[in-house]
Amino acid sequence: MGAGNEKEARVNSAKLTLNIAGVEKTIDFPVIVGSENEVAIDIRDLRAKTGVIALDPSFGNTGSCTSAITYIDGDAGILRYRGIPIEQLGEHSSFVETSYLLINGRLPNKFELGEYSRKLTMHSLIHEDMKHFFDGYPSTAHPMAILSAMVCSLSSFYPEALDATNTELFDITATRLLSKVRTIAAFSYKKSIGQPVMYPRNDLSYCANLLQMMFATPCEPHEPDEEVVKIVNLLLILHADHEQNCSTSTVRVVGSGQANLFASVAAGICALWGPRHGGANQEVIGMLAKIQANGGDVNKFLSLVKDKSSTVKLMGFGHRVYKNFDPRALLIKKAADSALRKLGKPDPLLDVAKRLEEAALKDSYFIDRKLYPNVDFYSGIIYRALGFPTNMFTVLFALGRLPGWIAQWKEMNEDPTTRIARPRQIYTGNVAQDYVPIDSRV
Ligand code: SDX
Repeated sequence: MGAGNEKEARVNSAKLTLNIAGVEKTIDFPVIVGSENEVAIDIRDLRAKTGVIALDPSFGNTGSCTSAITYIDGDAGILRYRGIPIEQLGEHSSFVETSYLLINGRLPNKFELGEYSRKLTMHSLIHEDMKHFFDGYPSTAHPMAILSAMVCSLSSFYPEALDATNTELFDITATRLLSKVRTIAAFSYKKSIGQPVMYPRNDLSYCANLLQMMFATPCEPHEPDEEVVKIVNLLLILHADHEQNCSTSTVRVVGSGQANLFASVAAGICALWGPRHGGANQEVIGMLAKIQANGGDVNKFLSLVKDKSSTVKLMGFGHRVYKNFDPRALLIKKAADSALRKLGKPDPLLDVAKRLEEAALKDSYFIDRKLYPNVDFYSGIIYRALGFPTNMFTVLFALGRLPGWIAQWKEMNEDPTTRIARPRQIYTGNVAQDYVPIDSRV
């Protein structure tokens, strides 16, 4: 698979006839056809050939790149990483193996997987000086604020990684990032509850180490339960990449300026934080808890959502791409049932979530707008059952999405056609006017 895959896409051509202000012009544009037969008109020469630009404010109709990493079919509810369906990866793979697949473009053999796991284990410590950064934060600091700041600060400890064009350093930089983010996440949690941090243990697997750093204390070891480790692997796999979503596009835009991987990913973490994006998983729990506190009447809540003046959204529902169902939501809903049963931790919010979903999927307001549960609707229920606090949910989303951000950043940097991302605009402000001296102003 080539980098960026310009050469992998088939190129035809389209004639576009534009009649602008009475002037008719017919122009040829290349048509790009991808490996799943998606079609795009390549308009990179539109302005040069016509003097006009295309306007698409939230990029809903605009492709920013060709990519060989993740394929989504929003109507058929298909999600594949490097061609492999997430249902199969969820059942057979681990987060470390899926990270290798996304970043390197193929599944590792036994030796490669062992080596990759070993390297992730050997790079889990953060510099001792960095540990003191946590002392400066209030215990109420949101862990996403700490995570983005710490990830960007990693560049201070690996100055050689500042040169984004040095491809020799990519593997070690990506491995350090993927390994240390767990430590940073766990340290930020310990900071928020006033407990001493727990160092990583080299005898544990990737996800078991995260759990140990989160839930062990110097007085009490924490041997993560096998079932819990499997559930965490599944959740991280299901979040690992999702083509050109808001945060991934942010990583690509920041990286297109040749900013280093740490800085690009720190920007992606900030983009993910918003409640319309990765911050939704935290909002869903608040929404479910409020419904339950108000007597559990889901229809009353849905009436509020349908009343536009309320501006209340059904969090965890809706998606720009999935207009039928989000395959991840189906898998997470199933996992929620089995996780709560295996952990012996029934959660009344799961029942509220299921009744809310059932009522919404029967309601024409949601059906007409093609609104279905997305990845964030059920994930918080499981995180809660695993003992994670609500304000860590989006951090866990970021941890899962990390290999995807890294893979997309790498693909962008390897693509010889990559230029700095610099959208245009249509100006609607004042036309030319002169400066008015202060004494002449009213
Ligand atoms: C993620 O892009 C990705 O791939 C993201 C993600 C990933 O893996 O990276 O999948 C992760 O971010 C999932 C989405 C998590 N966010 C939420 O659950 C927040 C609630 N959802 C909405 O804010 C919304 O659905 C978005 C942001 C997800 C999508 O917004 P769009 O595509 O811009 O859709 P829209 O706002 O234009 O909505 C179309 C209509 C509108 O109604 P009308 O003006 O046509 O009457 O649907 C309505 C919206 O008001 N609508 C909702 C709704 N989502 C859309 N109404 C109530 N509740 C909702 N959740």
